[in-house]
Amino acid sequence: MYFDTHAHYTDEDFDADRDETIKQVNESGVELIMNASSDFDSSLKAIALSEKYPFIYATVGWHPHDAKTFSEESEQYIRQWCTNSKVRAIGEIGLDFYYDLSERDVQREVFIRQMELASELKMPVVIHDRDAHAECMEIIRKFPDVKGAFHCYSGSAEMANEILSMGWYLGFTGAITFKNARRALEAIEICPNDRILIETDCPYLAPVPFRGKRNDSRYLS
Ligand code: NI
Repeated sequence: MYFDTHAHYTDEDFDADRDETIKQVNESGVELIMNASSDFDSSLKAIALSEKYPFIYATVGWHPHDAKTFSEESEQYIRQWCTNSKVRAIGEIGLDFYYDLSERDVQREVFIRQMELASELKMPVVIHDRDAHAECMEIIRKFPDVKGAFHCYSGSAEMANEILSMGWYLGFTGAITFKNARRALEAIEICPNDRILIETDCPYLAPVPFRGKRNDSRYLS
């Protein structure tokens, strides 16, 4: 049995055939799915999807790309959503200094506020870290009571060691099949099996030889 620990079935790429795809994915042996969110709308959709399917769970939160839409109200929504038993983590939260779709100061502030919420609500977190390794580490070190996973891990083996020593998990996607995946493979080498999370990040990051096509959880196997 497979657990896709990070998927986006709420994405519009699945609008035409969402239920059919989820059915096929489940029949193929994927018996658990964590559907990750990135803003208000996707959090609401993820909760609705998790209420429709017993094997789908949800994260709620504001992705660094969408940090600019985070407000005081968002905090109240996260508090309220986290009382739902199908909501199991706050995420994706973090920093993305590759695309910079929100101002870096805003990304930092919104990341820290959601880490504070995770601490207050005793929720694990799902981290999105792209080209911001040092700063992500600096922030999570300030919250020793918060645990979680680095999704689509792209840091060094040395950084992986520190994350593992804090009791966290590392998520790996189909990106480990790409030609430039050397660093991720080095991190996997030092990661104990029970700390590796497998994930698709679908509809993104389909593995070779399907790279560029729409991804779904069947590619886990
Ligand atoms: Ni994702």
